[in-house]
Amino acid sequence: MISKRALKELSRILGPERISTRRDTLERYGTDATKLAYSPDAVAFPGHIRQIADILLLANRERFPVVPRGAGSGKSGGALPVQGGLILAMDGFDRILEIDESNLIAKVESGVITARLQQEVEKKGLFYPPDPASIHISTIGGNVAECAGGLRAVKYGVTRDYVLGLTVVLPTGKIITTGVQTAKGVVGYDLTRLITGSEGTLAVIVDITLRLIPKPAYTRTMIAFFKDPSSAVQAVSQIIRSKVVPTALEFMDRTCIECVQDEIGLPVPESAGALLLIELDGDQALTRREAKTVEQICMQRGAVEFQAASGKKKGERLWEARRNVSHAVYKLKPDKVSEDVVVPRNRMADLVSFINTLSGTYALPMPAYGHAGDGNIHVNMMLDKSKPDELRKVDEAVKELFQKVLEMKGTLSGEHGIGITKAPYLGMEISQPAQDLMIRVKKAFDPNGILNPGKIFLA
Ligand code: MLT
Ligand code: ZN
Repeated sequence: MISKRALKELSRILGPERISTRRDTLERYGTDATKLAYSPDAVAFPGHIRQIADILLLANRERFPVVPRGAGSGKSGGALPVQGGLILAMDGFDRILEIDESNLIAKVESGVITARLQQEVEKKGLFYPPDPASIHISTIGGNVAECAGGLRAVKYGVTRDYVLGLTVVLPTGKIITTGVQTAKGVVGYDLTRLITGSEGTLAVIVDITLRLIPKPAYTRTMIAFFKDPSSAVQAVSQIIRSKVVPTALEFMDRTCIECVQDEIGLPVPESAGALLLIELDGDQALTRREAKTVEQICMQRGAVEFQAASGKKKGERLWEARRNVSHAVYKLKPDKVSEDVVVPRNRMADLVSFINTLSGTYALPMPAYGHAGDGNIHVNMMLDKSKPDELRKVDEAVKELFQKVLEMKGTLSGEHGIGITKAPYLGMEISQPAQDLMIRVKKAFDPNGILNPGKIFLA
């Protein structure tokens, strides 16, 4: 709880117009894409890094939690104020500071919307590949905090592969820079990589230096329908084995297809039990050759239909339909628990068949879709949270899923992070000594535990 005295001090640091305790503001900033809700005591809208530093100094003195927040599009509750306190809304830090064509880097503030950065660099013939499904709303700062993945990770990697350096405010109120402004650098411990993916628990990210690459000359989008999920994921394995690495290689099962059927804008074959959405990029001749290989593999694996999107608009429509699956599955039930597991790519067929069995056993829809090229499948366990029986079933199903994934040498989260939703399961994957070390790292950054408490670790 923030005391009256501390609120007064916050108002002095920020100016009264940059701090709010209005009920509607608290509600808006107390929830995120998990649809869980907690009430912060206040929301701050800092406009300068010095204000963030002063807020953190005050939070240490007065011992109130500070929760940094980008767009609130996170899927594991990383930006939720689970212990109340102050939301640090980074909305005002939305400037693209520099796109440096000579050094292939961009310097941005953390509140920049990811899609905006992509568009701006593309105007200069450059490319920022990380492409989380929420690009139109998510911020770069949130992407860095969670180490967001996305559709193009199969070829281009995830957010951390593009973060060269950061300017952050430590929980103790110190401002530091990490990493480099150069193409490479190995001086000291890699704090940039440690903070990237730390889910807002180690530092408040203010400025980010990102690596860019030249924009590929040509892209080609294709869609393949299969009679069942197993044939589709076998095609994925064969594509990877054939040494073609698509820009994106996405999977949807029948239930997901039905949820976004209208948005796909193509007739869906009656017999389709799954689809793959595939994008290739590069020079035109290579892309053409690779497209042929992909088509042949899909046909060998029994695709019931294979189509190349004719034109950029049609391709983009398919990708928008894909980005919307996460939302569209709410047509099935009012609530969902959305998982984000990854298995080695050659275990994908086992995973999708396990999900199908799990859905049958618990008699709940579990639409599955995602980044098949990475072995990363989003399993959405649909339920009605007002029904205790469904809550219990999902709880058991999640544990079964995680056990199976770990048996397959997979991991519990490919891109959404642990936050609060997966904190109870952390110990299934991370040994106690490794957790203890992580907790000591957190203590070294944040001795009083004021920055985003209650995340990742249960204790
Ligand atoms: C996606 O790939 O659509 C996102 O990671 C979001 C989600 O699965 O809910
Ligand atoms: Zn995803």
